[in-house]
Amino acid sequence: MSENVLVVDFGAQYAQLIARRVREAHVYSEIVPSTITAEEVRAKAPAAIILSGGPKSVYEVPAPSLDPAIYELGIPVLGICYGAQLMASQLGGEVANTGIGEYGRTTMTRQGPSVLMPEWPSSLTCWMSHGDAIATAPKGFVVTGSSPQGPVAVMEDVDRRLHAVQFHPEVAHTERGQELLSNFLHHVAGIAPTWTNTSIIEEQVALIRAQVGEERVLCALSGGVDSAVAAALVTKAVGTQLTCVFVDTGLMRKNEGEQIEETFTRQFGVELIHVKAQDRFFDALAGVLDPEEKRKIIGELFIREFETVARDLGAGGDGPRFLVQGTLYPDVIESGSGHAANIKSHHNVGGLPEDLSFDLVEPLRSLFKDEVRHVGEELGLPAEIVWRQPFPGPGLGVRIVGEVTRERAEILRNADHVVVDEIKKAGLYRELWQSFAVLPAVRTVGVMGDGRTYAYPIVIRAVTSDDAMTADWARLPYDVIESIANRLIREVDGVNRVALDVTSKPPGTIEWE
Ligand code: XMP
Repeated sequence: MSENVLVVDFGAQYAQLIARRVREAHVYSEIVPSTITAEEVRAKAPAAIILSGGPKSVYEVPAPSLDPAIYELGIPVLGICYGAQLMASQLGGEVANTGIGEYGRTTMTRQGPSVLMPEWPSSLTCWMSHGDAIATAPKGFVVTGSSPQGPVAVMEDVDRRLHAVQFHPEVAHTERGQELLSNFLHHVAGIAPTWTNTSIIEEQVALIRAQVGEERVLCALSGGVDSAVAAALVTKAVGTQLTCVFVDTGLMRKNEGEQIEETFTRQFGVELIHVKAQDRFFDALAGVLDPEEKRKIIGELFIREFETVARDLGAGGDGPRFLVQGTLYPDVIESGSGHAANIKSHHNVGGLPEDLSFDLVEPLRSLFKDEVRHVGEELGLPAEIVWRQPFPGPGLGVRIVGEVTRERAEILRNADHVVVDEIKKAGLYRELWQSFAVLPAVRTVGVMGDGRTYAYPIVIRAVTSDDAMTADWARLPYDVIESIANRLIREVDGVNRVALDVTSKPPGTIEWE
């Protein structure tokens, strides 16, 4: 097991970003709540602790605090922003509300020798976000950096291995921010940079082998990144014991089924059951217009299809005992506990009947999405799968406004392929959170050649986002929009008009249904 760094979460979004930056320095990190006790910390035996920023003032009641005995454990600590102020106030320094604060780009001036910033220039640009400021450092600390409104921008107590920075080293706007974190991790705490894709794979392969032994394992592939990488890891660990199931709902992207088959059957040599359930899905969706009803029908039918395969394989008896889930670390953190099996999306096979109860194998539970992609690449999955944008569980079903029919699904699949292909050609695919086509339930008049047409418009939907909670419509270059539009009209039968969705979220959602 790699050495571990605990990132204590004082709220807001900061802790996740810090945890990711620590991992970019090739050190494993784990987010823990601020209520953690010194005893619990000792039990986890971390090689270092980082206190995150947070939205509160240390003077607010209630404001999150930290068990002060944690400072006495001899474990190197780095306090950031709120974490820095908390450390200062808990150890006898002074935190003052200057009434001015600093937000955004700020110049920090260095002073004296520093273990966090050895041989750095005398001034640096850093990113600040604070109202209060540390006015006096606690006894034992040396102040090694200051800013116009922050007399103690950096303070260090080398003997007690306690360090604090008022600014945010984890954000890209802070010059040398990542270097500061690396210095803390590698030089102050002496942690070797051993957390790499290779080490993640080796560790997970060993854990999977230990968990499943000689038993059989089942995995539902959705075409998405997470299930594919989870399956690839299990393949590496216990390939011959794994059976993958891919249910084609008829609402997948173009060539998705073929690609999965190509990768898992031919490249990885895994047993893959390709359930061609398109007809059953289209029959169940006939005449259904309500978006939530569509979701429900698709979700339930998916489970029924999966269940049929599982029963045929003898699950619960001498068939597969384990089920692979692509749960990621953010799902685990957001579920509020380190244990809850938070099963997401409609591919929610946790909803299977009791007599099909599986033990879960979740090899991605400790990984962030970007790590999952890199692990996937290292395992030899094609870039097309690994870098795929998120795709909703109900698939094209929630992008077809109105009735979902075979014909309309085919129009949208072809249109979606054109949008994605042009976005990829323009080199924008990885920058965008999602980019796809939507098929509205109206038809419009057009002329083509000598004739009048009466066909569907396609809406181009492209958004930027970090987490899908909020999103902005992407400012696609006009020439990209034009080439998408030209190809849609030329190549996709049934389409005679193209529109662009310029709605952010909120007020719009990313999907149309
Ligand atoms: P909205 O449309 O709510 O979407 O802004 C936010 C993100 O969630 C995806 N999405 C879904 N994913 N089942 C899923 O698994 C669904 O029913 C579903 N609806 C939306 C959407 O693609 C976006 O990434």
